[in-house]
Amino acid sequence: MQSSLSISGPRHIAIIMDGNGRWATRRGLNRSRGHRAGARAVRTVVETAVARGTNVLTLYAFSADNWRRPRREVAALMRLFERYLITESGRCVAHGVRVSVIGRRDRLNRSLVAAIEQVETGTRTGPGMHLRIAVDYSAREAILRTAARLPAEGGIQPVDFLARMNRTIHSTLPAPPVDLLIRTGGERRLSDFLLWECAYAELVFSDRLWPDFDSDDLDVALAEFARRDRRYGCVKPMTAPVRAVS
Ligand code: FPP
Repeated sequence: MQSSLSISGPRHIAIIMDGNGRWATRRGLNRSRGHRAGARAVRTVVETAVARGTNVLTLYAFSADNWRRPRREVAALMRLFERYLITESGRCVAHGVRVSVIGRRDRLNRSLVAAIEQVETGTRTGPGMHLRIAVDYSAREAILRTAARLPAEGGIQPVDFLARMNRTIHSTLPAPPVDLLIRTGGERRLSDFLLWECAYAELVFSDRLWPDFDSDDLDVALAEFARRDRRYGCVKPMTAPVRAVS
């Protein structure tokens, strides 16, 4: 696939995929149907991100707080993730996409963990985009767990902390800080997603409900990103304070 991303395009895009439930409710469907429609949007956006030359795409699929949803909805989501990983594996290999699932694994059922390990192994040599899907993920917990493992004495540079945190959350490749954070569904909050990594992210909020979010919407967000003046607290010329770790 051809890359049309300019040199100043985002290396790392993160997306909070919000609005599946409302999308379904407005159609008189149950929420799980909205999540299934959301999975179709994931495919479109992954392919567009690859085509635009994105290095890393991190998608927020299930937060640690989402366990508090109704059991049926949680079960349907877990089945959907497992099916997605199994069915999309070949497509990811074809596009050179390397897949990681970030977050905790100890609360996931065994067949989902097996699917995660299979797709991570099967795509690990992918030379293209790194797709990270966040499942049972909490940024605050990731920070706390990483900090708890630091040696008692001595300081640490932000770049080294990020590298350690990538290991904590099972990112099979270290991912750089987020350049562009997109949230769909009209809400304007971070919801415990990549709080450390988003320190200097450009935030773009879209009113589009996630199942309706398509390649044109991603291009709108990329165009908005291109208009932003990133100064990292400096005056020009500018440099990022936390450099990429990969
Ligand atoms: C938030 O919308 C969405 C989720 C908690 C689930 C995200 C899952 C998907 C997009 C499905 C497929 C994902 C993969 C990776 C295969 P919401 O349900 O809170 O929507 P609402 O705010 O309208 O209720």
